[in-house]
Amino acid sequence: MNEDRQEDIKKPYMNFHVLTLFPDMIRQGLSESIIGRALAKDYISLETVNIRDHTVDKHKKVDDYPYGGGAGMLMQAQPVYDAWMSVAEGIHRQGRDGKKARVIYVTPQGRTFSQELAKELAKEEDLILLCGHYEGIDERVLEEIVTDYISIGDYVLTGGELPAMVMIDAISRMVPGVLSNAESGVTESFGNYLLEYPQYSRPELWHEKRVPEVLLSGNHQKVDEWRLEESLKRTGKLRPDLYEKWAAENQEYFVKKAKREERKRRKELKQRQKGRENVQQKPLEKPE
Ligand code: ADE
Repeated sequence: MNEDRQEDIKKPYMNFHVLTLFPDMIRQGLSESIIGRALAKDYISLETVNIRDHTVDKHKKVDDYPYGGGAGMLMQAQPVYDAWMSVAEGIHRQGRDGKKARVIYVTPQGRTFSQELAKELAKEEDLILLCGHYEGIDERVLEEIVTDYISIGDYVLTGGELPAMVMIDAISRMVPGVLSNAESGVTESFGNYLLEYPQYSRPELWHEKRVPEVLLSGNHQKVDEWRLEESLKRTGKLRPDLYEKWAAENQEYFVKKAKREERKRRKELKQRQKGRENVQQKPLEKPE
């Protein structure tokens, strides 16, 4: 979310609505730590809707066999549609347009979730996440309500709840107020394409490994330079794709670095020359 919007709109700054067969899993999974605190402090809100509560089937069934045969069961269109409608109407009652809220179907077939996408989604006021189960959901309801198909990676999970929680966590971190100053001050992996630099805490010596000297120096500029260098080294080694992106956007860094190194080289050269001159000028010691 845009920082300026913080003044324009009231808390919560982001309202998550999750359509699921396992609402407790979502509630429990998001009740602790930073996200739990953000919910308690009303920076974000979380509504879970049990899709089963919306079935018109007298046995509370929400799934059926796929037409044309095949393994597994499909979630039917009716309960999913009605669950979505209840959320859209709820948002409308609060003065926003629930029918326009983005509806994310969490599915391995979607585009891959990323930090960039988390940042984009954090600009919304309402997000509706639809969690599938069984072999999927009747295509007709997806066509009617889904705006975004998003996957958390190329592997298949048993349901959409864990991916939905992953997305809610990553999006919430981008919402103003959710992270404390100290937490948001932490340099972000991916935020600028670079992986995090190595970190150390007490004691200075552990298992015969010493904390890098520069971190004890108290020289903040030197520490920052070291951290950036370490981030670059690590990113180049582990994620050359990200390194390339960073390098393309930060060419001035390499220019400045080259200039810095050239200055250092000249200084050292001068000092060596001076040293030699001093030796030459020193009068020969008189023999005893
Ligand atoms: N549902 C099952 N597997 C998934 C994945 N990898 N991403 C999003 N939703 C899923």
